[in-house]
Amino acid sequence: MAVYVIGSMNIDMFFDVEHFVRPKETLMPIHTEVLPGGKGLNQACACAKGKAKTWMAGKTGPDGQLLLDTLHTAGVNTSFVQVEKNSLSGRAIIQRDQMAENCILLDPGANHTFEKEDFERVLEHVGPKDIVLIQNEISNLEELTQLLKKKDCFVVFNPAPVTKDIPADLSFVSCLVVNEVEVEELLKKTGVPEFLCKEWLKKYPESSIVLTLSSAGSMYADKERILFMPAFKVDVKDTTGAGDTYTGFFCAMLDQEYTVEEALRYASAASAIAVTMPGAASSIPELDAVKEKIAQNPDICPIRQN
Ligand code: RIB
Repeated sequence: MAVYVIGSMNIDMFFDVEHFVRPKETLMPIHTEVLPGGKGLNQACACAKGKAKTWMAGKTGPDGQLLLDTLHTAGVNTSFVQVEKNSLSGRAIIQRDQMAENCILLDPGANHTFEKEDFERVLEHVGPKDIVLIQNEISNLEELTQLLKKKDCFVVFNPAPVTKDIPADLSFVSCLVVNEVEVEELLKKTGVPEFLCKEWLKKYPESSIVLTLSSAGSMYADKERILFMPAFKVDVKDTTGAGDTYTGFFCAMLDQEYTVEEALRYASAASAIAVTMPGAASSIPELDAVKEKIAQNPDICPIRQN
Protein backbone atom coordinates (compact mmCIF):
# COMPACT_ATOMS: atom_id res chain seq x y z
CA MET A 1 0.00 0.00 0.00
CA ALA A 2 1.18 3.54 -0.67
CA VAL A 3 0.11 7.17 -0.54
CA TYR A 4 0.19 9.13 -3.80
CA VAL A 5 0.14 12.89 -3.24
CA ILE A 6 -0.86 14.84 -6.34
CA GLY A 7 -0.29 18.45 -5.42
CA SER A 8 1.66 21.66 -5.16
CA MET A 9 5.29 22.38 -4.40
CA ASN A 10 6.17 25.93 -3.40
CA ILE A 11 9.13 27.99 -2.37
CA ASP A 12 7.88 29.66 0.82
CA MET A 13 9.27 33.15 1.41
CA PHE A 14 8.68 34.01 5.06
CA PHE A 15 8.59 37.59 6.32
CA ASP A 16 8.35 38.08 10.09
CA VAL A 17 6.51 41.36 10.62
CA GLU A 18 5.30 43.53 13.51
CA HIS A 19 1.87 43.47 11.87
CA PHE A 20 0.51 42.52 8.44
CA VAL A 21 1.18 45.17 5.78
CA ARG A 22 -1.72 47.62 5.52
CA PRO A 23 -2.96 49.43 2.40
CA LYS A 24 -0.54 52.23 1.36
CA GLU A 25 2.05 51.04 3.91
CA THR A 26 5.65 49.95 3.23
CA LEU A 27 7.05 47.71 5.93
CA MET A 28 10.49 46.24 6.65
CA PRO A 29 10.37 42.66 7.95
CA ILE A 30 12.08 41.76 11.23
CA HIS A 31 13.45 38.59 9.68
CA THR A 32 13.14 36.74 6.36
CA GLU A 33 13.79 33.16 5.34
CA VAL A 34 13.20 30.91 2.36
CA LEU A 35 11.89 27.43 3.12
CA PRO A 36 10.29 24.53 1.22
CA GLY A 37 6.50 24.35 1.18
CA GLY A 38 3.34 23.88 -0.82
CA LYS A 39 0.43 21.90 0.53
CA GLY A 40 1.25 18.89 -1.66
CA LEU A 41 4.92 18.80 -0.72
CA ASN A 42 4.21 19.37 2.99
CA GLN A 43 1.64 16.58 3.09
CA ALA A 44 3.91 14.21 1.17
CA CYS A 45 6.78 14.89 3.60
CA ALA A 46 4.46 14.30 6.56
CA CYS A 47 3.27 10.99 5.05
CA ALA A 48 6.83 9.82 4.51
CA LYS A 49 7.89 10.90 8.00
CA GLY A 50 4.90 8.91 9.27
CA LYS A 51 6.64 5.96 7.52
CA ALA A 52 4.13 5.44 4.72
CA LYS A 53 5.49 4.56 1.29
CA THR A 54 4.90 7.94 -0.36
CA TRP A 55 4.98 9.20 -3.93
CA MET A 56 4.82 12.86 -4.88
CA ALA A 57 3.35 13.94 -8.20
CA GLY A 58 4.18 17.61 -8.53
CA LYS A 59 5.74 20.21 -10.77
CA THR A 60 8.54 22.70 -10.23
CA GLY A 61 10.51 25.08 -12.36
CA PRO A 62 14.28 24.74 -12.86
CA ASP A 63 14.61 26.74 -9.62
CA GLY A 64 13.03 23.93 -7.57
CA GLN A 65 16.07 21.98 -6.37
CA LEU A 66 15.34 22.89 -2.72
CA LEU A 67 11.92 21.28 -3.12
CA LEU A 68 13.29 18.08 -4.64
CA ASP A 69 15.99 17.85 -1.96
CA THR A 70 13.36 18.29 0.75
CA LEU A 71 11.25 15.45 -0.63
CA HIS A 72 14.28 13.16 -0.94
CA THR A 73 15.41 13.88 2.61
CA ALA A 74 11.96 13.07 3.95
CA GLY A 75 11.97 9.77 2.03
CA VAL A 76 9.39 10.64 -0.64
CA ASN A 77 9.64 8.96 -4.05
CA THR A 78 9.89 11.78 -6.63
CA SER A 79 9.59 9.75 -9.86
CA PHE A 80 6.40 11.65 -10.70
CA VAL A 81 7.83 15.12 -10.08
CA GLN A 82 8.37 17.02 -13.32
CA VAL A 83 10.60 20.03 -13.86
CA GLU A 84 8.88 22.47 -16.23
CA LYS A 85 11.63 24.25 -18.16
CA ASN A 86 9.53 27.30 -18.98
CA SER A 87 7.94 27.97 -15.58
CA LEU A 88 9.14 29.11 -12.22
CA SER A 89 8.33 27.06 -9.15
CA GLY A 90 5.27 28.10 -7.18
CA ARG A 91 5.97 30.80 -4.62
CA ALA A 92 4.19 31.65 -1.39
CA ILE A 93 4.83 35.02 0.19
CA ILE A 94 4.05 34.48 3.85
CA GLN A 95 3.79 37.24 6.45
CA ARG A 96 4.13 35.91 9.98
CA ASP A 97 3.09 38.26 12.76
CA GLN A 98 3.97 38.43 16.45
CA MET A 99 0.82 36.48 17.40
CA ALA A 100 2.04 33.51 15.26
CA GLU A 101 -0.71 34.20 12.71
CA ASN A 102 0.10 34.24 9.02
CA CYS A 103 -1.28 35.46 5.73
CA ILE A 104 -0.24 34.02 2.40
CA LEU A 105 -0.03 35.36 -1.14
CA LEU A 106 0.34 32.52 -3.63
CA ASP A 107 1.85 32.54 -7.11
CA PRO A 108 1.16 29.04 -8.49
CA GLY A 109 3.90 28.99 -11.14
CA ALA A 110 4.59 25.43 -12.33
CA ASN A 111 1.76 24.08 -10.13
CA HIS A 112 -0.63 25.44 -12.74
CA THR A 113 0.84 23.46 -15.63
CA PHE A 114 -0.86 20.17 -14.68
CA GLU A 115 -2.77 18.56 -17.56
CA LYS A 116 -5.02 15.50 -17.74
CA GLU A 117 -2.15 13.35 -19.09
CA ASP A 118 -0.05 14.14 -16.00
CA PHE A 119 -2.81 12.77 -13.78
CA GLU A 120 -3.33 9.70 -15.97
CA ARG A 121 0.36 8.82 -15.78
CA VAL A 122 0.24 8.74 -11.96
CA LEU A 123 -3.14 7.09 -11.59
CA GLU A 124 -2.02 4.16 -13.76
CA HIS A 125 0.24 3.19 -10.84
CA VAL A 126 -2.42 3.50 -8.15
CA GLY A 127 -3.94 0.27 -6.85
CA PRO A 128 -7.22 -0.33 -4.97
CA LYS A 129 -5.50 -0.34 -1.56
CA ASP A 130 -3.60 2.90 -2.16
CA ILE A 131 -4.50 6.37 -0.93
CA VAL A 132 -4.58 9.33 -3.31
CA LEU A 133 -4.20 12.59 -1.41
CA ILE A 134 -5.06 15.88 -3.16
CA GLN A 135 -5.51 19.56 -2.31
CA ASN A 136 -6.52 22.61 -4.37
CA GLU A 137 -3.28 24.32 -5.39
CA ILE A 138 -2.84 22.76 -8.86
CA SER A 139 -4.50 23.35 -12.24
CA ASN A 140 -7.27 21.21 -13.75
CA LEU A 141 -8.57 19.83 -10.48
CA GLU A 142 -11.90 19.08 -12.16
CA GLU A 143 -10.16 16.79 -14.70
CA LEU A 144 -8.38 15.03 -11.85
CA THR A 145 -11.58 14.46 -9.92
CA GLN A 146 -13.33 13.05 -13.01
CA LEU A 147 -10.51 10.51 -13.33
CA LEU A 148 -10.67 9.70 -9.62
CA LYS A 149 -14.40 8.94 -9.89
CA LYS A 150 -13.53 6.06 -12.23
CA LYS A 151 -10.65 4.82 -10.11
CA ASP A 152 -10.87 2.22 -7.37
CA CYS A 153 -8.80 3.73 -4.53
CA PHE A 154 -9.21 5.71 -1.30
CA VAL A 155 -9.25 9.45 -2.03
CA VAL A 156 -8.45 11.96 0.70
CA PHE A 157 -9.35 15.51 -0.31
CA ASN A 158 -8.08 18.56 1.53
CA PRO A 159 -9.94 21.36 -0.30
CA ALA A 160 -7.47 24.08 0.59
CA PRO A 161 -7.59 26.81 -0.34
CA VAL A 162 -11.33 26.86 -1.10
CA THR A 163 -11.76 28.60 -4.45
CA LYS A 164 -14.29 28.52 -7.28
CA ASP A 165 -12.22 25.69 -8.83
CA ILE A 166 -13.49 23.19 -6.28
CA PRO A 167 -15.89 20.88 -8.17
CA ALA A 168 -19.55 21.02 -7.07
CA ASP A 169 -19.77 17.21 -7.09
CA LEU A 170 -17.48 15.81 -4.42
CA SER A 171 -18.66 12.21 -4.73
CA PHE A 172 -15.07 11.16 -5.55
CA VAL A 173 -14.07 11.87 -1.92
CA SER A 174 -13.54 8.96 0.47
CA CYS A 175 -12.41 11.20 3.32
CA LEU A 176 -12.61 14.99 3.48
CA VAL A 177 -10.02 16.78 5.64
CA VAL A 178 -11.02 20.38 6.27
CA ASN A 179 -10.97 23.22 8.74
CA GLU A 180 -14.12 25.02 9.87
CA VAL A 181 -13.83 27.91 7.44
CA GLU A 182 -13.33 25.57 4.51
CA VAL A 183 -16.23 23.27 5.33
CA GLU A 184 -18.58 26.23 5.89
CA GLU A 185 -17.64 27.57 2.47
CA LEU A 186 -18.12 24.17 0.83
CA LEU A 187 -21.48 23.52 2.47
CA LYS A 188 -22.63 27.15 2.43
CA LYS A 189 -23.73 26.59 6.02
CA THR A 190 -22.44 27.62 9.41
CA GLY A 191 -22.75 25.87 12.73
CA VAL A 192 -20.97 23.92 15.45
CA PRO A 193 -18.47 21.23 14.39
CA GLU A 194 -20.84 18.31 14.95
CA PHE A 195 -23.52 19.94 12.82
CA LEU A 196 -21.03 20.60 10.01
CA CYS A 197 -19.85 16.99 10.04
CA LYS A 198 -23.44 15.73 9.92
CA GLU A 199 -24.29 18.07 7.05
CA TRP A 200 -21.33 16.72 5.05
CA LEU A 201 -22.42 13.13 5.75
CA LYS A 202 -25.99 13.93 4.69
CA LYS A 203 -24.59 14.76 1.24
CA TYR A 204 -21.93 12.03 1.08
CA PRO A 205 -22.98 9.27 3.53
CA GLU A 206 -20.43 6.72 2.32
CA SER A 207 -17.50 9.04 3.02
CA SER A 208 -15.92 10.30 6.22
CA ILE A 209 -14.84 13.73 7.40
CA VAL A 210 -12.02 15.03 9.56
CA LEU A 211 -12.64 18.55 10.79
CA THR A 212 -9.60 20.32 12.24
CA LEU A 213 -10.39 22.92 14.90
CA SER A 214 -6.97 24.54 15.57
CA SER A 215 -6.23 24.69 19.31
CA ALA A 216 -9.67 23.19 20.07
CA GLY A 217 -8.67 19.80 18.59
CA SER A 218 -10.28 17.90 15.75
CA MET A 219 -13.35 15.83 14.96
CA TYR A 220 -13.89 12.71 12.86
CA ALA A 221 -17.24 11.49 11.61
CA ASP A 222 -18.57 8.71 9.42
CA LYS A 223 -22.04 7.16 9.19
CA GLU A 224 -21.44 5.16 12.37
CA ARG A 225 -19.67 7.45 14.79
CA ILE A 226 -18.38 10.86 15.74
CA LEU A 227 -15.04 11.13 17.52
CA PHE A 228 -13.59 14.21 19.17
CA MET A 229 -9.80 14.40 19.42
CA PRO A 230 -8.62 16.97 22.00
CA ALA A 231 -5.56 19.05 21.13
CA PHE A 232 -2.13 18.63 22.71
CA LYS A 233 -1.20 21.81 24.59
CA VAL A 234 1.89 23.53 23.19
CA ASP A 235 3.43 27.01 22.76
CA VAL A 236 2.51 28.10 19.27
CA LYS A 237 5.30 29.73 17.22
CA ASP A 238 4.15 29.26 13.62
CA THR A 239 0.98 27.60 12.37
CA THR A 240 2.05 27.49 8.70
CA GLY A 241 1.65 23.94 7.39
CA ALA A 242 0.19 22.56 10.64
CA GLY A 243 -2.90 21.35 8.77
CA ASP A 244 -0.66 19.70 6.19
CA THR A 245 1.28 17.87 8.90
CA TYR A 246 -2.02 16.69 10.37
CA THR A 247 -3.36 15.52 7.00
CA GLY A 248 -0.13 13.77 6.01
CA PHE A 249 0.25 11.89 9.28
CA PHE A 250 -3.44 10.95 9.28
CA CYS A 251 -3.06 9.39 5.81
CA ALA A 252 0.24 7.72 6.70
CA MET A 253 -1.30 5.97 9.69
CA LEU A 254 -4.44 4.91 7.81
CA ASP A 255 -2.24 3.58 5.00
CA GLN A 256 -0.36 1.44 7.53
CA GLU A 257 -3.68 0.11 8.84
CA TYR A 258 -3.70 1.93 12.15
CA THR A 259 -7.24 2.49 13.45
CA VAL A 260 -8.95 5.84 12.83
CA GLU A 261 -8.55 6.59 16.56
CA GLU A 262 -4.80 6.02 16.36
CA ALA A 263 -4.50 7.99 13.12
CA LEU A 264 -6.26 10.96 14.78
CA ARG A 265 -3.88 10.77 17.72
CA TYR A 266 -0.75 10.63 15.59
CA ALA A 267 -2.00 13.43 13.31
CA SER A 268 -2.88 15.63 16.25
CA ALA A 269 0.45 15.03 18.05
CA ALA A 270 2.43 15.66 14.86
CA SER A 271 0.68 18.96 14.13
CA ALA A 272 1.07 20.04 17.76
CA ILE A 273 4.84 19.60 17.44
CA ALA A 274 4.85 21.33 14.03
CA VAL A 275 3.38 24.58 15.39
CA THR A 276 6.25 24.91 17.87
CA MET A 277 8.73 25.29 15.01
CA PRO A 278 9.05 27.77 12.13
CA GLY A 279 8.18 26.94 8.54
CA ALA A 280 5.92 24.41 6.86
CA ALA A 281 7.83 21.33 5.60
CA SER A 282 10.74 22.15 7.90
CA SER A 283 8.52 21.92 10.99
CA ILE A 284 7.22 18.38 10.34
CA PRO A 285 8.45 16.08 13.12
CA GLU A 286 9.91 12.58 12.81
CA LEU A 287 7.73 9.64 13.85
CA ASP A 288 9.79 9.03 17.00
CA ALA A 289 9.04 12.54 18.28
CA VAL A 290 5.34 12.01 17.60
CA LYS A 291 5.37 8.71 19.49
CA GLU A 292 7.12 10.41 22.41
CA LYS A 293 4.49 13.17 22.50
CA ILE A 294 1.73 10.57 22.63
CA ALA A 295 3.52 8.58 25.35
CA GLN A 296 3.93 11.75 27.43
CA ASN A 297 0.20 12.51 27.16
CA PRO A 298 -1.61 9.17 27.53
CA ASP A 299 -4.90 10.85 28.44
CA ILE A 300 -5.15 12.84 25.21
CA CYS A 301 -7.04 10.47 22.95
CA PRO A 302 -10.25 10.38 20.88
CA ILE A 303 -13.57 10.53 22.74
CA ARG A 304 -16.71 9.09 21.19
CA GLN A 305 -19.51 11.66 20.89
CA ASN A 306 -22.48 9.42 19.97
O1 RIB B 1 -0.39 25.01 4.03
C1 RIB B 1 0.79 25.75 4.05
C2 RIB B 1 1.28 26.00 2.66
O2 RIB B 1 0.36 26.81 1.99
C3 RIB B 1 2.59 26.74 2.59
O3 RIB B 1 3.69 25.88 2.62
C4 RIB B 1 2.47 27.54 1.32
O4 RIB B 1 3.29 27.10 0.30
C5 RIB B 1 0.99 27.44 0.92
O5 RIB B 1 0.82 26.62 -0.15
